[in-house]
Amino acid sequence: MLKRTTYLSHSYGKPDAHTLGNYEAHGGYRAARMVLSTMTRERAIDEMKAAHVRGRGGAGFDCGTKWSFMPKESGKPHYLVVNADEGEPGTFKDRTIMEQNPHALVEGCIIGAFAIGAHAAYIYVRDELHLSKERLWGAIREAKERGYLGRNPFGTSYSMEVYVHTGAGAYICGEETALLNSLEGRRGEPRLKPPFPAQVGAFGCPTTVNNVETIAIAPTVFTMGGDNFSKLSALHDWNDGGARLFGVSGHVKNPGIYECAVGLTLRELIYDLGGGILGDGQLLAVIPGGSSCPVHRADEIVDVPNNEKFAPYHGKSFLDLPLGVDTFRGAGSMLGTCCAIVLSDKADPVLALHNVMRFYRHESCGQCTPCREGCGWIERILDKIVQGQGTVEELNQIHEIGSNITGNTICAFGDGAAQPALSFVRKFRAELLDYIQTGGSHQTRSLTV
Ligand SMILES: Cc1cc2nc3c(=O)[nH]c(=O)nc-3n(C[C@H](O)[C@H](O)[C@H](O)COP(=O)(O)O)c2cc1C
Repeated sequence: MLKRTTYLSHSYGKPDAHTLGNYEAHGGYRAARMVLSTMTRERAIDEMKAAHVRGRGGAGFDCGTKWSFMPKESGKPHYLVVNADEGEPGTFKDRTIMEQNPHALVEGCIIGAFAIGAHAAYIYVRDELHLSKERLWGAIREAKERGYLGRNPFGTSYSMEVYVHTGAGAYICGEETALLNSLEGRRGEPRLKPPFPAQVGAFGCPTTVNNVETIAIAPTVFTMGGDNFSKLSALHDWNDGGARLFGVSGHVKNPGIYECAVGLTLRELIYDLGGGILGDGQLLAVIPGGSSCPVHRADEIVDVPNNEKFAPYHGKSFLDLPLGVDTFRGAGSMLGTCCAIVLSDKADPVLALHNVMRFYRHESCGQCTPCREGCGWIERILDKIVQGQGTVEELNQIHEIGSNITGNTICAFGDGAAQPALSFVRKFRAELLDYIQTGGSHQTRSLTV
């Protein structure tokens, strides 16, 4: 159901969108003041739980529940770490918040840090996002000058600092434990879990890692009340609440970020918001939420029989399934970051897969053998296929290699890399075979339309 909202994006496009003056004119910092002055940690966590904010970084874990995993008293400092690494191909929503509404993130940090018993929040920003960093530094300076950060924020005794930490441009550092290693000045490689960050996180201390959007929406949750926020969503009954940023890119007329209530469908995102397919093309396929999700062909249907919750959707087009964490997971897909990548039938899906796998080979940190070797192997097979030198045996091998990466690595990068490989070879087998059988006569086709 298409329901536009503007909680985060009310000022997008205005020249003073990022300033404290504009933020306060829209009620900014009242929620943080109220939380720090009147709430307990437990009360704040309960409010977030009621909102059913599913993590916006890709895994969709419930934010309030994650906050509740932090120890009550650990005898150590606690930290909130905000994941602003945003390196997933197709995903460009967090940077819009940092560039155009940085105070929402700073205020969200104050609320989130308070709820987990932290006095410091680190925002780990992907190095290439220069404007994001500048805007965050500016917002932190303004908030400090106004007495919203520091020793006595809002006149309370709950001291609070927010720091920006610059990454160094590696996609793997978006994985939360690789991020923590990088934050500590170590090599950005994922850690074995357990222990989870809530026990042993940044600098050996209890830590919560949350996505930018997850944290930036917290002021809205506390302003509206968690339950009211949750009920904005058409998937309130699925415990997937509120509103969020949806992205659409690729072969659509109006690529961009659109804020809507949860429950929007891919059809609405692609056609009503994205303006439909570029040129005179038709929709060929869509990757729902960043490149680590499986691809879906335009004619795919939802196939979840004997499940009461899926009864309204079973047998209908995938494009009409509401975009939710559990709706997509239950239907054998993944919501990811909710930033869809659209492919026109004028473009070449084989080249799209090749492009995506080049990315994963390049970004694998190399720690786990199945991922390090598997991503390179798949890329080499695709190199041969697009040059017209591949074989059917090698095509079949992609499935085998992808299956052997899945579930056999320390972090979810491996699964994320295998998803596009496995789904493209299953759903675009005819196109891949065509390359093999015609010896690469498709060289004239391209990824652009
Ligand atoms: C390879 C890889 C890259 C990731 N990149 C990001 C990222 O850029 N931003 C992000 O928020 N989460 C990213 N994640 C997910 C994080 O590990 C983590 O789940 C998330 O930051 C938790 O925040 P949330 O619960 O608010 O969604 C990535 C995960 C993997 C495996």
